[in-house]
Amino acid sequence: MIIKKASFVISNTNYKLCPNDNKAEYAFIGRSNVGKSSLINALTNNKSLAKISGKPGKTQLINHFLINEDWFMVDLPGYGYAKTSKVLRAKFHKMINDYLLNRKNLICLFVLIDSRHDLQAVDNEFMQFLAENNIPFTIVFTKTDKQGRSTLAKNFNKFKATMLNDWESLPKYFMTSSIKRTGLKELLDYISALNKDFKTNQES
Ligand code: GTP
Ligand code: MG
Repeated sequence: MIIKKASFVISNTNYKLCPNDNKAEYAFIGRSNVGKSSLINALTNNKSLAKISGKPGKTQLINHFLINEDWFMVDLPGYGYAKTSKVLRAKFHKMINDYLLNRKNLICLFVLIDSRHDLQAVDNEFMQFLAENNIPFTIVFTKTDKQGRSTLAKNFNKFKATMLNDWESLPKYFMTSSIKRTGLKELLDYISALNKDFKTNQES
């Protein structure tokens, strides 16, 4: 799929105020600083669409972007950022959970995980919450450019082994780098196939 047009629509703190839900939607989530906003910008070839920062905690709202006038990408705040106040964390938690549990047109949630790290408890618990609530998700490993091929493979194998302690199988996943543009075409092709299914279901 080629992205011809990507535009910012609206930012919200409440899922009820999000745009009309008749279009397929894909949201990006993961720990603070994992590269959610960078991935959205790389996928859309637009350096300034989503706000990026070296400091964690940059994205604080539910941000909708309309792609090719046809479907939405959503940039969400990061979770598990220890330096945010307890009150603010609880507020983010409720905002994200309400969005995830109620947004009917959410086709797939991309859970971003830094490819350099082993499975963290916060990510594992979050994915378990998704599975328990039937929220479809796919893992996207980020920042693969930050290590060599063999280290990447070693880290991935460790992640997989840890995950399989709790999970029957590893969920579907992509390996990406927003800087080197690794895996972006595969991710867009995946979205394109899901968009087709969404339209077929809408028609029937
Ligand atoms: P919050 O909105 O704060 O939760 O962060 P985020 O997940 O949106 O991360 P963001 O895209 O702002 O990126 C965080 C930092 O990681 C920035 O300094 C990016 O330049 C860097 N980064 C993101 N993706 C990549 C990547 O693929 N490779 C490398 N080397 N750096 C990356
Ligand atoms: Mg962000």
